Amino acid sequence: MRPELFLVLAAVTCAAGKPLSKAATAKNKLLLISFDGFRWDYDQDVETPHLDRLVVDGVKAKYITPPMLTMTSPSHFTTITGRWVEDHEVVHNMMFNATTNLKVPHKQTLTRSEWWDNGVLPLWITAQNQGLKTASFFYPGGGANYSGQAVTRAVVEEVGHPDDNETEWRQNVDTVLNWFTEEDFDFVTLYYGEPDNVGHAKGPDHPRRKEIIRQIDRTIGYLREAISRLDLNDSLNVIITSDHGMTTVKKRPQVDEIILNKYLNLIQLNSFELLDYGGFGILTPRPGQEQKVFDALSNAPNLTVYKKDEIPESFHLAKSKRLPPIVVVADLGFNLNSRFIVYVNKGDHGYHNGEMDMKTIFRAFGPSFKRNFLSEPFDSIHIYPLMCHLLQIQPAPHNGSLAVTENMLQHNGGLQRAPVSVAVLLSMLISMFYVL
Ligand SMILES: *[C@@H]1O[C@H](CO)[C@@H](O)[C@H](O)[C@H]1NC(C)=O
Ligand SMILES: *[C@@H]1O[C@H](CO)[C@@H](O)[C@H](O)[C@H]1NC(C)=O
Ligand SMILES: *[C@@H]1O[C@H](CO)[C@@H](O)[C@H](O)[C@H]1NC(C)=O
Ligand SMILES: *[C@@H]1O[C@H](CO)[C@@H](O)[C@H](O)[C@H]1NC(C)=O
Ligand SMILES: *[C@@H]1O[C@H](CO)[C@@H](O)[C@H](O)[C@H]1NC(C)=O
Ligand SMILES: *[C@@H]1O[C@H](CO)[C@@H](O)[C@H](O)[C@H]1NC(C)=O
Ligand SMILES: [Zn+2]
Repeated sequence: MRPELFLVLAAVTCAAGKPLSKAATAKNKLLLISFDGFRWDYDQDVETPHLDRLVVDGVKAKYITPPMLTMTSPSHFTTITGRWVEDHEVVHNMMFNATTNLKVPHKQTLTRSEWWDNGVLPLWITAQNQGLKTASFFYPGGGANYSGQAVTRAVVEEVGHPDDNETEWRQNVDTVLNWFTEEDFDFVTLYYGEPDNVGHAKGPDHPRRKEIIRQIDRTIGYLREAISRLDLNDSLNVIITSDHGMTTVKKRPQVDEIILNKYLNLIQLNSFELLDYGGFGILTPRPGQEQKVFDALSNAPNLTVYKKDEIPESFHLAKSKRLPPIVVVADLGFNLNSRFIVYVNKGDHGYHNGEMDMKTIFRAFGPSFKRNFLSEPFDSIHIYPLMCHLLQIQPAPHNGSLAVTENMLQHNGGLQRAPVSVAVLLSMLISMFYVL
């Protein structure tokens, strides 16, 4: 053997034991995708080959439980902060002020920092403060500023934006994957407004809902193909989840629908109300009327009324400063109509998070996750510490626990790319040989 070759061999062999370059040891990137209102069992009555493949290639939880207040903004913000709703204070989809009677519809709250920024930092900001590059595509809360800091890149959904355009869904996949490959983003959240929209409009059992699930499945197929094409298989972890489920709204003649004004004179007894919004309602009684409101609603059928300070601890809502003194949760499928029945929604949510219809999905795949791993159900609040672990950052104070999810991770944590494989080493040696 020529001495030069021996030296090269020795050098390459040494290098193989150590990190070869920055790229070889870079921490993995993370993509969090949310499909709004994806009930835990929506994939069970439709052909979903790509979602099924994910079960083999990654991790599936039987289902996950959203925080109490099974609504889009509160639940998404719990996922991205790891905090209960009473702490992050995003207590409704609508922004409201019970003093001024201001009510701002959901889509218009997305850039209203005063609604989102209540002293709890979402993961984007915490990660940015530790040197990572983060972005949000349509994810609720991504368009606000937190303690004066914005998410490095935030695309905010506009009012009236169509939810179900499959071509655009794919473009959005391409856009966020390019952020990883072209601009070195570390953490991106991507949000889709389906199947929530179709669940409301047609009901969870409608064929159109199944069609949207097929569309989501194709999009996941497209995502995986794009990840492979962009050579992200070994460096990108993906979590796919959602904010809540969906249930069929009960209507006449099956049931007597609730009209709250039949049980109490709403306007006489209350100075503020937010009703006609699915299964969750809130009221501010006029001074001295709290007990009267509570008693009247206690006599109303098919709902449970709570004084805020007596809300069960498991709801993690009682400490909220924003929630008004009276909270009403309808029985599953009943809408909290105020004065008359709005026949718009055929499906809804906002009900007790213990109801199976409110449970939602969790899937994950990528270099850090085990393959073919079925996880027991868990609370969505635990996603936050998992994401911090995957990104190798120090979490902000939170209410989750990594212990709940760490069994879904590869034993080595999957945090680094595998060291140079034997095959790579061999091919290096061979090319060296020819050089010499
Ligand atoms: C509601 O509006 C009033 C009057 O503008 C303001 O003083 C108060 O701080 C607001 N309350 C909340 C919870 O934002
Ligand atoms: C966030 O802060 C920047 C800089 O102060 C400001 O230009 C922007 O309008 C703010 N955005 C929101 C949604 O408050
Ligand atoms: C769907 O999105 C594509 C790409 O953004 C756009 O060209 C097309 O016009 C959209 N279709 C509809 C029906 O809005
Ligand atoms: C990436 O992973 C997918 C799914 O396992 C696989 O089909 C594909 O061949 C992989 N691509 C590369 C470039 O390894
Ligand atoms: C609604 O309440 C009525 C009156 O208490 C009761 O008879 C009925 O069973 C309830 N409906 C459902 C679906 O729980
Ligand atoms: C949730 O976490 C925060 C921050 O650590 C803490 O202040 C709060 O008490 C926790 N809530 C519960 C119910 O443990
Ligand atoms: Zn919804």
